[in-house]
Amino acid sequence: MTVESVQPEASLAPELREPPRAGGGVPFLGHGWKLVRDPLEFMSRLRDDGDVVRLKLGPKTVYAVTTPELTGALALSNDFIIAGPLWESLEGLLGKEGVATANGPVHRRQRRTIQPAFRLDAIPAYGPIMEEEAHALTERWKPGETIDCTSESFRVAVRVAARCLLRGDYMDERAERLCVALATVFRGMYRRMVVPLGPLYRLPLPANREFNRALADLHLLVDEIVAERRASGQKPDDLLTALLEAKDDNGDPIGEQEIHDQVVAILTPGSETVASTIMWLLHMLAEHPEHADKVCEEVEAVTGGRPVAFQDVRNLRHTNNVVVEAMRLRPAVWILTRRAVRETELGGYRIPAGADIVYSPYAIQRDAKSYERNLEFDPDRWLPDRVKDIPKHAMSPFSTGNRKCPSDHFSMAQLTLITAALATVYRFEEVAGSNAATRVGITLRPHDLRLRPVRR
Ligand code: HEM
Repeated sequence: MTVESVQPEASLAPELREPPRAGGGVPFLGHGWKLVRDPLEFMSRLRDDGDVVRLKLGPKTVYAVTTPELTGALALSNDFIIAGPLWESLEGLLGKEGVATANGPVHRRQRRTIQPAFRLDAIPAYGPIMEEEAHALTERWKPGETIDCTSESFRVAVRVAARCLLRGDYMDERAERLCVALATVFRGMYRRMVVPLGPLYRLPLPANREFNRALADLHLLVDEIVAERRASGQKPDDLLTALLEAKDDNGDPIGEQEIHDQVVAILTPGSETVASTIMWLLHMLAEHPEHADKVCEEVEAVTGGRPVAFQDVRNLRHTNNVVVEAMRLRPAVWILTRRAVRETELGGYRIPAGADIVYSPYAIQRDAKSYERNLEFDPDRWLPDRVKDIPKHAMSPFSTGNRKCPSDHFSMAQLTLITAALATVYRFEEVAGSNAATRVGITLRPHDLRLRPVRR
């Protein structure tokens, strides 16, 4: 231990202010009831109270950051790490040794291992699989039938992630199991985070049993995937090989638990986020036929009428803007949290060491202070001459800084390709009984979107 490290940390300048308290709290529960009752509305109104505001969640004080500039500063600062109740419950259920919850040198080492699989120049190798899966959807769906968009979107998201990154067959049976397990696990995890009833979740009630079964199946599936690869003796150039061959900082192979947790930490965010975004894209195609027609026209102009291919993606500017605009209004990841590792400042406010900070990409990306006609679906706002009016960090669905999603290029390529493939073959109509209202969970998605495809 050095002399410096035992000296007390110098306090920050005394003129730093304490952030104002957000309005609307009630005795005992503070702002918790509002956050539970209507979290999107609650997060979206906070900027009226200040750039940084204090929330009371029961006895606990949590800090909310409400401006694009300060969310950028938060994501880019070393004073904040991934920790807090959201991450603790994720770790407890999904594993402690995955990249999404690690910090410091372990996190840097893990990012170095997984990053090559997601680099821009690695994506074209996934092109044939993405293409195959996008066209398989249009062939699988029959005109006039009703599509259950939740299971179909999960299915394609899981298949693309698993086939590209883990290079397995991942036939429907396994993708289906993974979808069912993930959907149940995510639903249960969100409930456990928002309503932390502790021991009650251990009672042998049907919902708890279903949750535990799904969680066990998710871990079993990952074990099967790893064991199969080992038994095959093959080492294709993919993410799973990179994980199986990874070394720790001493040059020793990483442990079995870390390999397992890493596969979970990549498959779970990789499927839920992409699936939710595909659901919103399908909803947009049904709700805005004029935009669906424009996508179709662009694709036909680029392809000359042949089926859209991966190599076309870079020329599908408008389709890409449609995907971006859908992600602006319906970001899959709607809330993010950090913890201050030391006393620090944000926007002139004092943030104490150990404070939990929260911010909402949903609120930031819909803010009237950043976007003209903020709630209007307008893909052309991403055209080069207009995009310059959008403040920095006001559109960050993949986050920024050292925790930025490694899969931004991978995800944009597949989402653009899927949107192009669907819009050129079908128009979509919402059917009776469909429920497109926003369902708030760990991600945002429609409650139960059901569409009828009509051949163009
Ligand atoms: C992290 C969004 C797709 C793997 C993140 C974060 C966001 C995000 C916002 C940062 C979380 C934070 O700052 O705390 C999205 C969206 C996606 C998507 C919107 C698609 C629409 C994927 C896919 C994969 C993936 C397809 C993998 C196959 C990860 C991983 C992390 C992460 C491993 C943790 C990175 C780290 O902590 O270093 N994602 N993601 N994501 N995402 Fe994604």
